[in-house]
Amino acid sequence: MSSGTLFVTGGAGFIGSALIRLLIAESDWHIVNIDKLTYAGNLESLASLSNNSRYVFSHTDICDRSKLDCLFAEYKPAGVMHLAAESHVDRSIHGPADFIETNILGTYTLLEAARAYWSALPQKGVSEFRFHHVSTDEVYGSLGAAGLFTETTPYRPNSPYSASKASSDHLVRAWQHTYGLPVLITNCSNNYGPYQFPEKLIPLVLLNALQGKPLPIYGKGDNVRDWLYVDDHARALLMVFERGVAGETYNIGGHNEKTNLEVVDALCALLDELQPRADGRSYLEQKTFVADRPGHDRRYAIDASKIERAIGWKPQESFETGLRKTVAWYLANADWIEHVITGEYRNWVKQNYLDRIVA
Ligand code: NAD
Ligand code: TYD
Repeated sequence: MSSGTLFVTGGAGFIGSALIRLLIAESDWHIVNIDKLTYAGNLESLASLSNNSRYVFSHTDICDRSKLDCLFAEYKPAGVMHLAAESHVDRSIHGPADFIETNILGTYTLLEAARAYWSALPQKGVSEFRFHHVSTDEVYGSLGAAGLFTETTPYRPNSPYSASKASSDHLVRAWQHTYGLPVLITNCSNNYGPYQFPEKLIPLVLLNALQGKPLPIYGKGDNVRDWLYVDDHARALLMVFERGVAGETYNIGGHNEKTNLEVVDALCALLDELQPRADGRSYLEQKTFVADRPGHDRRYAIDASKIERAIGWKPQESFETGLRKTVAWYLANADWIEHVITGEYRNWVKQNYLDRIVA
C-alpha cells in the first residue's frame, strides 16, 4: 500500500510539516492536512506546497466529530497519521486543560471517526487501513544513569503532557484490541531541526542567543535527552506506516544522548563560528542557570533496535551534523523567525491561503 490519500493531523506543526514535505517529495500519497492552527500551527512551514495538487489543508479541530466524518466521507483515506497534539511540557504544567482536551478527547474523537469510516470499508480496505498514532518516549517516565526505553518498558508518565500522551496511547491500543482497528504506535525521543517553534530548548536557545538574551538552563543542566533530527523522524514515520505490522509499537531514537549543558554549549560553539557576536565575545557568556522545572524528568534514552531490525530504519544524521544543519537553517530563515516572533505567521494563512482551504 503506497498510494491514495492519507490524513495527517497536526501537519502545520513542527514534525507534521516535516512529514508532509517528505510525503510530497518522496511518496505518491495525496495528503489532507487536518489542523486547528493553535499557536503551534504555522502554514508558512508548508508554503512550498501551497499550490501542490497532491496537498489540501483543512482547518479542523480533531475534537469536532461531525467535521471529521465529513472529511472521511469526502476523501476516503487509506490511513491516518495522527500528530495533532499539545506538545510542550512547560505549557502543560501551567495549563493542562488543553492537553486533556486535544491529546485525550481529540484522539478519542479521531479514533471513533476513523472506526466508523473503517468498519464500513470493503474487505480490502478494512485490512489495509492504518491508524498511525505518533507519540513520545516521555510516556515511559524517567531513567536513571543506565538503561534504555524499549517497547515493553512499563508506562510511568510524570508530566501532564506525558500523562495525556500515555492516555492517548492506551486508547489507540484498546481500539485495536477491542474493535480490531489496525493501529500502529510510534514513541519517539526529542526532535530538533528546522521550523521548530521557539519554546523548545534548541530553537529557544538559538533565538535568545541571537537577540542577546539569557540562555535559560533549568537546574544544573545535567538532565539528559536523546536527540533525533526531525527529517530522520519523518522518514521513520513513513517507513513504519508503509511496512509496520498492525498492533505493534516502534520506538524511534537518534542514539544521541546529551546533557542540556552539552546541547547549549554546542549551539554556542556553532553560533560563535557561523555568526559571531558583534563584540567578539562568546555566546557562552549568555548561559544562565534558572529554577528547575517541577517534576523534571532526569534522563530519556531510546533502544531503537526494533525499528532497525523490523523496518530497516536508522537515523542518517549524527547530533553534530543535524545541529549544524539546524543552526544554518535558523540563520538563513530570518523571515520565518521574524513572523513567529511578531505573531505575523497567524495572519499568513488569511493573506496567502484562504481561497485554497477546504472545510
Ligand atoms: P507541535 O506543537 O509543533 O504541533 C502540533 C500541531 O497540532 C500544531 O500544528 C497544532 O495547530 C495542531 N493541533 C493542536 N491541537 C489540535 C487540535 N485540537 N486539532 C487539530 N490540530 C491541533 O508538535 P510537534 O513537536 O510537531 O509534535 C507532533 C507530535 O509528535 C505530537 O503528537 C507530539 O506529542 C509528538 N512528539 C513530539 C516530539 C518532539 O520532540 N517535538 C517528540 C516525540 C513525540
Ligand atoms: P524541551 O525542549 O522543553 O523538551 P522536553 O521537556 O519534552 O524534553 O526541553 C528539553 C530539555 O531542556 C529538558 O530537560 C528541559 C530543558 N530546558 C531548559 O533547560 N531550558 C529551557 O528554556 C527549556 C525550554 C528546556
